Amino acid sequence: MILHNLSLSSGNRHKTAITVGSKCIEESLTSLTTQSKRVFVLSQESLLKDSGYDIMSVVKSAYHSDCHLILVADGESAKSMTTYTQCLNHIFDIGVERGDTIIGFGGGVVTDLAGFIASTCLRGIKLINIPTTLLAQVDAAIGGKTGINHPSGKNLIGSFYQPHLIINDIAILASLPKEESQSGFAEIIKYGIIQDRDLFDLLLAEANTIIKFDYIADHDLWLNIITKSIKNKIYVVEEDEKESSLRAILNFGHTIGHGIEALFGYNMYKHGFCVAFGMCAATYIAVKKSLISQDMATAIYRILNVYDYHRISLDSIHKDRLLAIIARDKKVKDSKIRFVLPTHIGKVIVSPDVSESDIIASIEFIESFFTGVTP
Ligand code: GLY
Repeated sequence: MILHNLSLSSGNRHKTAITVGSKCIEESLTSLTTQSKRVFVLSQESLLKDSGYDIMSVVKSAYHSDCHLILVADGESAKSMTTYTQCLNHIFDIGVERGDTIIGFGGGVVTDLAGFIASTCLRGIKLINIPTTLLAQVDAAIGGKTGINHPSGKNLIGSFYQPHLIINDIAILASLPKEESQSGFAEIIKYGIIQDRDLFDLLLAEANTIIKFDYIADHDLWLNIITKSIKNKIYVVEEDEKESSLRAILNFGHTIGHGIEALFGYNMYKHGFCVAFGMCAATYIAVKKSLISQDMATAIYRILNVYDYHRISLDSIHKDRLLAIIARDKKVKDSKIRFVLPTHIGKVIVSPDVSESDIIASIEFIESFFTGVTP
Protein backbone atom coordinates (compact mmCIF):
# COMPACT_ATOMS: atom_id res chain seq x y z
CA MET A 1 0.00 0.00 0.00
CA ILE A 2 1.24 3.50 -0.82
CA LEU A 3 1.43 5.43 2.46
CA HIS A 4 3.04 8.67 1.29
CA ASN A 5 2.97 10.37 -2.09
CA LEU A 6 5.81 12.91 -2.43
CA SER A 7 7.25 14.76 -5.40
CA LEU A 8 10.48 16.45 -6.39
CA SER A 9 10.38 19.40 -8.79
CA SER A 10 13.51 20.13 -10.77
CA GLY A 11 14.64 22.15 -13.80
CA ASN A 12 12.43 22.35 -16.93
CA ARG A 13 9.35 21.83 -14.75
CA HIS A 14 10.17 18.13 -14.42
CA LYS A 15 8.36 16.47 -11.53
CA THR A 16 9.45 13.17 -10.05
CA ALA A 17 6.73 11.24 -8.24
CA ILE A 18 8.02 9.49 -5.12
CA THR A 19 5.99 6.87 -3.31
CA VAL A 20 6.77 5.42 0.10
CA GLY A 21 4.86 2.45 1.44
CA SER A 22 4.80 -1.25 2.00
CA LYS A 23 4.30 -3.80 -0.79
CA CYS A 24 3.53 -0.80 -2.97
CA ILE A 25 5.49 -1.52 -6.16
CA GLU A 26 2.65 -2.76 -8.35
CA GLU A 27 0.23 -0.12 -7.08
CA SER A 28 2.77 2.64 -7.75
CA LEU A 29 3.59 1.38 -11.24
CA THR A 30 -0.07 1.00 -12.14
CA SER A 31 -1.31 4.29 -10.81
CA LEU A 32 1.62 6.56 -11.58
CA THR A 33 3.02 5.56 -14.95
CA THR A 34 1.75 5.71 -18.45
CA GLN A 35 2.16 2.67 -20.66
CA SER A 36 5.35 2.15 -22.64
CA LYS A 37 5.75 -0.11 -25.64
CA ARG A 38 8.83 -1.69 -24.06
CA VAL A 39 10.09 -1.86 -20.49
CA PHE A 40 13.69 -2.80 -19.65
CA VAL A 41 14.28 -3.89 -16.05
CA LEU A 42 17.91 -3.59 -14.98
CA SER A 43 18.90 -5.65 -11.95
CA GLN A 44 21.35 -8.14 -10.45
CA GLU A 45 20.84 -11.89 -10.21
CA SER A 46 21.84 -12.17 -6.53
CA LEU A 47 19.36 -9.47 -5.63
CA LEU A 48 16.49 -11.20 -7.39
CA LYS A 49 17.40 -14.36 -5.49
CA ASP A 50 18.02 -12.79 -2.05
CA SER A 51 15.02 -10.50 -2.05
CA GLY A 52 12.73 -13.34 -3.15
CA TYR A 53 10.85 -10.68 -5.05
CA ASP A 54 9.49 -11.51 -8.48
CA ILE A 55 9.91 -8.08 -10.01
CA MET A 56 9.26 -9.29 -13.56
CA SER A 57 5.79 -10.63 -12.69
CA VAL A 58 4.93 -7.35 -11.04
CA VAL A 59 6.20 -5.30 -13.98
CA LYS A 60 4.40 -7.54 -16.46
CA SER A 61 1.09 -7.18 -14.66
CA ALA A 62 1.47 -3.40 -14.44
CA TYR A 63 2.50 -2.92 -18.09
CA HIS A 64 0.78 -4.45 -21.07
CA SER A 65 4.01 -4.32 -23.02
CA ASP A 66 7.21 -6.13 -23.93
CA CYS A 67 9.14 -6.52 -20.66
CA HIS A 68 12.83 -7.42 -20.73
CA LEU A 69 15.17 -8.27 -17.86
CA ILE A 70 18.80 -7.13 -18.14
CA LEU A 71 21.09 -8.57 -15.48
CA VAL A 72 24.44 -7.03 -14.59
CA ALA A 73 27.22 -8.34 -12.33
CA ASP A 74 27.07 -7.89 -8.57
CA GLY A 75 28.93 -5.07 -6.90
CA GLU A 76 30.56 -1.86 -8.01
CA SER A 77 32.12 -3.56 -11.07
CA ALA A 78 28.74 -3.22 -12.82
CA LYS A 79 29.29 0.53 -13.05
CA SER A 80 31.85 0.10 -15.81
CA MET A 81 32.03 1.34 -19.38
CA THR A 82 31.98 -2.31 -20.51
CA THR A 83 28.72 -3.11 -18.69
CA TYR A 84 27.19 0.16 -19.85
CA THR A 85 27.99 -0.72 -23.48
CA GLN A 86 26.74 -4.30 -23.07
CA CYS A 87 23.43 -3.06 -21.66
CA LEU A 88 22.98 -0.64 -24.54
CA ASN A 89 23.85 -3.38 -27.06
CA HIS A 90 21.16 -5.54 -25.48
CA ILE A 91 18.63 -2.71 -25.60
CA PHE A 92 19.41 -1.79 -29.23
CA ASP A 93 19.25 -5.48 -30.25
CA ILE A 94 15.71 -5.66 -28.88
CA GLY A 95 14.81 -2.26 -30.29
CA VAL A 96 14.01 0.89 -28.35
CA GLU A 97 11.94 4.03 -28.87
CA ARG A 98 11.72 7.34 -27.04
CA GLY A 99 8.54 6.35 -25.15
CA ASP A 100 10.11 3.22 -23.65
CA THR A 101 11.05 2.85 -19.99
CA ILE A 102 14.04 1.65 -18.00
CA ILE A 103 13.41 0.44 -14.47
CA GLY A 104 16.39 0.24 -12.10
CA PHE A 105 15.57 -2.42 -9.51
CA GLY A 106 18.44 -2.62 -7.03
CA GLY A 107 20.81 -0.67 -4.83
CA GLY A 108 22.77 2.44 -5.75
CA VAL A 109 24.94 0.62 -8.28
CA VAL A 110 21.90 -0.43 -10.28
CA THR A 111 20.03 2.87 -10.01
CA ASP A 112 23.19 4.85 -10.97
CA LEU A 113 23.78 2.64 -14.00
CA ALA A 114 20.11 2.48 -15.02
CA GLY A 115 19.92 6.26 -14.74
CA PHE A 116 22.98 6.80 -16.92
CA ILE A 117 21.67 4.38 -19.56
CA ALA A 118 18.23 6.05 -19.50
CA SER A 119 19.74 9.52 -19.78
CA THR A 120 21.96 8.68 -22.75
CA CYS A 121 19.87 6.15 -24.70
CA LEU A 122 18.21 8.07 -27.56
CA ARG A 123 19.14 11.23 -25.54
CA GLY A 124 16.79 10.20 -22.77
CA ILE A 125 14.08 7.64 -22.18
CA LYS A 126 11.81 7.29 -19.16
CA LEU A 127 13.47 6.17 -15.91
CA ILE A 128 11.86 4.54 -12.87
CA ASN A 129 13.94 3.73 -9.79
CA ILE A 130 12.90 0.99 -7.41
CA PRO A 131 15.64 1.13 -4.76
CA THR A 132 16.06 -2.06 -2.76
CA THR A 133 18.59 -0.90 -0.15
CA LEU A 134 18.18 1.61 2.64
CA LEU A 135 21.08 3.63 1.19
CA ALA A 136 19.43 3.86 -2.21
CA GLN A 137 15.98 4.64 -0.77
CA VAL A 138 17.13 7.59 1.30
CA ASP A 139 19.92 8.86 -0.94
CA ALA A 140 21.30 7.27 -4.11
CA ALA A 141 18.07 6.77 -6.04
CA ILE A 142 16.77 10.30 -5.37
CA GLY A 143 18.06 13.51 -6.88
CA GLY A 144 19.06 12.57 -10.39
CA LYS A 145 22.76 11.79 -10.03
CA THR A 146 23.56 8.98 -12.46
CA GLY A 147 26.89 7.57 -13.46
CA ILE A 148 29.52 4.96 -14.01
CA ASN A 149 33.13 4.69 -12.88
CA HIS A 150 36.33 5.37 -14.81
CA PRO A 151 39.73 3.85 -13.96
CA SER A 152 40.67 7.35 -12.72
CA GLY A 153 37.88 7.41 -10.13
CA LYS A 154 34.34 6.68 -9.01
CA ASN A 155 31.36 8.33 -10.74
CA LEU A 156 33.59 10.38 -13.05
CA ILE A 157 31.26 9.78 -16.00
CA GLY A 158 27.64 10.70 -15.45
CA SER A 159 24.73 13.06 -15.77
CA PHE A 160 21.96 14.70 -13.83
CA TYR A 161 18.78 12.99 -14.98
CA GLN A 162 15.63 12.95 -12.91
CA PRO A 163 13.53 9.78 -12.77
CA HIS A 164 9.87 9.86 -13.67
CA LEU A 165 9.02 7.82 -10.56
CA ILE A 166 10.82 6.47 -7.48
CA ILE A 167 9.14 3.66 -5.53
CA ASN A 168 10.32 3.10 -1.95
CA ASP A 169 8.93 -0.15 -0.64
CA ILE A 170 9.87 -0.61 3.02
CA ALA A 171 8.87 -4.30 2.99
CA ILE A 172 11.62 -5.04 0.50
CA LEU A 173 14.27 -3.89 3.00
CA ALA A 174 13.42 -6.83 5.30
CA SER A 175 15.86 -9.13 3.50
CA LEU A 176 18.84 -6.76 3.83
CA PRO A 177 21.84 -7.96 5.84
CA LYS A 178 22.30 -5.85 8.99
CA GLU A 179 25.60 -4.42 7.77
CA GLU A 180 23.93 -3.15 4.60
CA SER A 181 21.20 -1.48 6.67
CA GLN A 182 23.81 0.09 8.93
CA SER A 183 25.65 1.40 5.90
CA GLY A 184 22.54 3.15 4.57
CA PHE A 185 21.64 4.40 8.01
CA ALA A 186 24.79 6.57 8.10
CA GLU A 187 23.18 8.76 5.41
CA ILE A 188 20.11 9.16 7.65
CA ILE A 189 22.30 10.28 10.55
CA LYS A 190 23.91 12.68 8.07
CA TYR A 191 20.54 14.38 7.37
CA GLY A 192 20.09 14.81 11.12
CA ILE A 193 23.44 16.51 11.49
CA ILE A 194 23.34 18.71 8.39
CA GLN A 195 19.79 20.02 8.57
CA ASP A 196 17.28 18.15 10.71
CA ARG A 197 17.76 18.39 14.46
CA ASP A 198 14.38 16.70 15.13
CA LEU A 199 15.46 13.70 13.10
CA PHE A 200 18.79 13.59 14.97
CA ASP A 201 16.95 13.60 18.32
CA LEU A 202 14.57 10.89 17.13
CA LEU A 203 17.48 8.69 16.05
CA LEU A 204 19.05 9.00 19.49
CA ALA A 205 15.77 8.57 21.40
CA GLU A 206 14.75 5.43 19.47
CA ALA A 207 18.23 3.93 19.11
CA ASN A 208 17.42 0.71 20.98
CA THR A 209 14.63 -0.06 18.51
CA ILE A 210 16.21 1.31 15.34
CA ILE A 211 19.43 -0.64 15.76
CA LYS A 212 17.50 -3.90 15.28
CA PHE A 213 16.71 -2.81 11.71
CA ASP A 214 13.44 -4.72 11.89
CA TYR A 215 11.51 -3.00 9.12
CA ILE A 216 8.41 -5.19 9.59
CA ALA A 217 7.97 -5.13 13.40
CA ASP A 218 8.88 -1.43 13.57
CA HIS A 219 7.22 -0.48 10.32
CA ASP A 220 5.71 2.84 11.42
CA LEU A 221 8.97 4.07 12.90
CA TRP A 222 10.83 3.18 9.70
CA LEU A 223 8.15 4.76 7.56
CA ASN A 224 8.63 7.95 9.54
CA ILE A 225 12.44 7.87 9.39
CA ILE A 226 12.64 7.03 5.68
CA THR A 227 10.01 9.62 4.75
CA LYS A 228 11.76 12.34 6.78
CA SER A 229 15.07 11.44 5.12
CA ILE A 230 13.57 11.57 1.63
CA LYS A 231 12.02 14.96 2.43
CA ASN A 232 15.45 16.23 3.51
CA LYS A 233 16.95 15.12 0.21
CA ILE A 234 14.06 16.59 -1.80
CA TYR A 235 14.51 19.94 -0.08
CA VAL A 236 18.21 20.13 -0.98
CA VAL A 237 17.82 18.91 -4.56
CA GLU A 238 14.92 21.28 -5.28
CA GLU A 239 17.07 24.19 -4.05
CA ASP A 240 20.19 23.20 -5.98
CA GLU A 241 19.78 20.33 -8.43
CA LYS A 242 23.20 20.61 -10.10
CA GLU A 243 25.27 21.08 -6.91
CA SER A 244 26.36 24.63 -7.48
CA SER A 245 25.88 25.53 -3.81
CA LEU A 246 23.54 24.00 -1.20
CA ARG A 247 23.69 20.41 -2.50
CA ALA A 248 27.35 20.30 -1.45
CA ILE A 249 26.16 19.88 2.16
CA LEU A 250 25.14 16.32 1.26
CA ASN A 251 28.86 15.62 1.03
CA PHE A 252 29.23 15.89 4.81
CA GLY A 253 31.51 13.04 5.84
CA HIS A 254 32.13 12.08 2.22
CA THR A 255 35.47 13.81 1.57
CA ILE A 256 37.40 11.63 3.99
CA GLY A 257 34.80 8.84 3.62
CA HIS A 258 35.36 8.52 -0.14
CA GLY A 259 39.10 8.71 0.51
CA ILE A 260 38.90 5.73 2.89
CA GLU A 261 36.75 3.78 0.44
CA ALA A 262 39.22 4.39 -2.38
CA LEU A 263 42.23 3.64 -0.17
CA PHE A 264 40.89 0.16 0.53
CA GLY A 265 39.77 -0.49 -3.05
CA TYR A 266 36.01 -0.06 -2.44
CA ASN A 267 35.48 -3.62 -1.22
CA MET A 268 36.81 -3.64 2.33
CA TYR A 269 34.36 -1.30 4.05
CA LYS A 270 30.81 -0.39 3.10
CA HIS A 271 30.14 3.19 2.03
CA GLY A 272 28.18 4.19 5.15
CA PHE A 273 30.93 3.04 7.52
CA CYS A 274 33.41 5.22 5.61
CA VAL A 275 30.97 8.16 5.69
CA ALA A 276 30.51 7.69 9.45
CA PHE A 277 34.28 7.82 9.85
CA GLY A 278 34.35 10.96 7.69
CA MET A 279 31.56 12.61 9.72
CA CYS A 280 33.49 11.95 12.91
CA ALA A 281 36.68 13.39 11.38
CA ALA A 282 34.90 16.48 10.04
CA THR A 283 33.33 17.07 13.46
CA TYR A 284 36.75 16.94 15.10
CA ILE A 285 38.06 19.46 12.55
CA ALA A 286 35.07 21.74 13.33
CA VAL A 287 35.86 21.56 17.06
CA LYS A 288 39.51 22.42 16.41
CA LYS A 289 38.42 25.46 14.40
CA SER A 290 35.97 26.49 17.16
CA LEU A 291 33.05 26.16 14.76
CA ILE A 292 31.02 23.82 16.97
CA SER A 293 30.74 23.44 20.73
CA GLN A 294 32.34 20.45 22.42
CA ASP A 295 28.89 19.38 23.71
CA MET A 296 27.36 19.22 20.25
CA ALA A 297 30.42 17.45 18.88
CA THR A 298 30.13 14.90 21.69
CA ALA A 299 26.48 14.27 20.69
CA ILE A 300 27.65 13.56 17.13
CA TYR A 301 30.40 11.20 18.31
CA ARG A 302 27.86 9.55 20.58
CA ILE A 303 25.32 8.80 17.84
CA LEU A 304 28.05 7.28 15.66
CA ASN A 305 29.18 5.18 18.59
CA VAL A 306 25.67 4.10 19.57
CA TYR A 307 25.09 2.84 16.02
CA ASP A 308 28.34 0.92 16.10
CA TYR A 309 30.30 2.44 13.25
CA HIS A 310 33.79 1.77 14.62
CA ARG A 311 34.91 -0.70 12.01
CA ILE A 312 37.75 0.98 10.14
CA SER A 313 41.13 -0.32 11.17
CA LEU A 314 43.16 2.81 11.82
CA ASP A 315 46.50 0.99 11.78
CA SER A 316 46.07 0.21 8.12
CA ILE A 317 45.39 3.77 6.96
CA HIS A 318 48.28 4.99 4.84
CA LYS A 319 47.91 8.71 5.53
CA ASP A 320 49.95 10.09 2.61
CA ARG A 321 48.06 7.94 0.16
CA LEU A 322 44.76 9.02 1.72
CA LEU A 323 45.71 12.69 1.36
CA ALA A 324 46.64 12.16 -2.31
CA ILE A 325 43.24 10.53 -2.96
CA ILE A 326 41.37 13.33 -1.17
CA ALA A 327 43.23 15.94 -3.24
CA ARG A 328 41.86 14.33 -6.45
CA ASP A 329 38.28 14.37 -5.15
CA LYS A 330 35.48 15.94 -7.22
CA LYS A 331 34.78 18.27 -4.29
CA VAL A 332 38.13 20.04 -4.80
CA LYS A 333 37.60 23.48 -6.32
CA ASP A 334 40.43 25.86 -7.36
CA SER A 335 42.86 23.33 -5.80
CA LYS A 336 41.20 23.76 -2.38
CA ILE A 337 39.44 20.90 -0.63
CA ARG A 338 35.89 22.03 0.22
CA PHE A 339 34.96 20.47 3.54
CA VAL A 340 31.49 20.34 5.00
CA LEU A 341 31.84 21.11 8.71
CA PRO A 342 29.09 21.08 11.36
CA THR A 343 28.41 24.24 13.35
CA HIS A 344 25.33 22.95 15.26
CA ILE A 345 23.26 19.78 15.22
CA GLY A 346 21.23 20.55 12.09
CA LYS A 347 23.58 23.10 10.55
CA VAL A 348 26.80 22.91 8.52
CA ILE A 349 29.04 25.22 6.51
CA VAL A 350 31.28 24.52 3.52
CA SER A 351 34.83 25.52 4.36
CA PRO A 352 37.79 25.87 1.98
CA ASP A 353 40.16 26.20 4.97
CA VAL A 354 40.91 22.62 5.92
CA SER A 355 44.58 21.76 5.68
CA GLU A 356 46.28 18.41 5.26
CA SER A 357 47.49 18.58 8.85
CA ASP A 358 43.86 19.09 10.03
CA ILE A 359 42.91 15.90 8.20
CA ILE A 360 45.82 13.90 9.65
CA ALA A 361 45.04 15.16 13.17
CA SER A 362 41.37 14.20 12.80
CA ILE A 363 42.24 10.65 11.78
CA GLU A 364 44.63 10.28 14.68
CA PHE A 365 41.95 11.51 17.05
CA ILE A 366 39.15 9.19 15.94
CA GLU A 367 40.20 5.97 17.60
CA SER A 368 39.82 7.37 21.10
CA PHE A 369 36.25 8.42 20.40
CA PHE A 370 35.16 5.27 18.67
CA THR A 371 36.44 3.25 21.58
CA GLY A 372 35.92 5.60 24.52
CA VAL A 373 32.42 7.14 24.34
CA THR A 374 29.36 5.41 25.72
CA PRO A 375 25.78 6.54 25.16
N1 GLY B 1 24.52 11.62 -2.63
C1 GLY B 1 24.80 13.00 -2.71
C2 GLY B 1 23.93 13.72 -3.67
O1 GLY B 1 22.97 13.17 -4.18
O2 GLY B 1 24.19 14.88 -3.94
